[in-house]
Amino acid sequence: MKTIFVLNGPNLNLLGKREPGIYGNKTLEDVAADCREAAGRLSLQVDFRQSNHEGVLVDWLHEAADKSQGVVLNAGAYTHTSIAIHDAIRAISPVPVVEVHLSNIHAREPFRHVSKVAPHALGMICGFGPLGYTLALQALAARP
Ligand code: DQA
Repeated sequence: MKTIFVLNGPNLNLLGKREPGIYGNKTLEDVAADCREAAGRLSLQVDFRQSNHEGVLVDWLHEAADKSQGVVLNAGAYTHTSIAIHDAIRAISPVPVVEVHLSNIHAREPFRHVSKVAPHALGMICGFGPLGYTLALQALAARP
């Protein structure tokens, strides 16, 4: 059975309370429950985590290289700024990373239009709320 790390970056621990008009009413625990439910259907094992700290996310990407067959990554605001996360994704190649955002980052402020994750991601899903996580798991399950 494939193990998939689902990694969440800064401020995503506040989902449900944080700007619900943009991010919706579900909590991160609800998103984790959706992922576990989808993983059951797709015969995946999911390791779901969140950190507000860039270096912790880098450490988890390194760990994913040894312990997983793929990563779903919502790096939050670090998506737009972090060369360290960009480098970590390159460093763990060929472990596939699917970039996910709850909101459509291209329909928001210009600084969100740039992603340092995207150039080395298998693909990117944004704008579908928590469903994006399930779609990303589906994409990883479909890979040989
Ligand atoms: C986000 C989009 C980012 O621009 C933002 O900084 C976040 C959440 C999303 O899921 O839509 O924290 O990654």
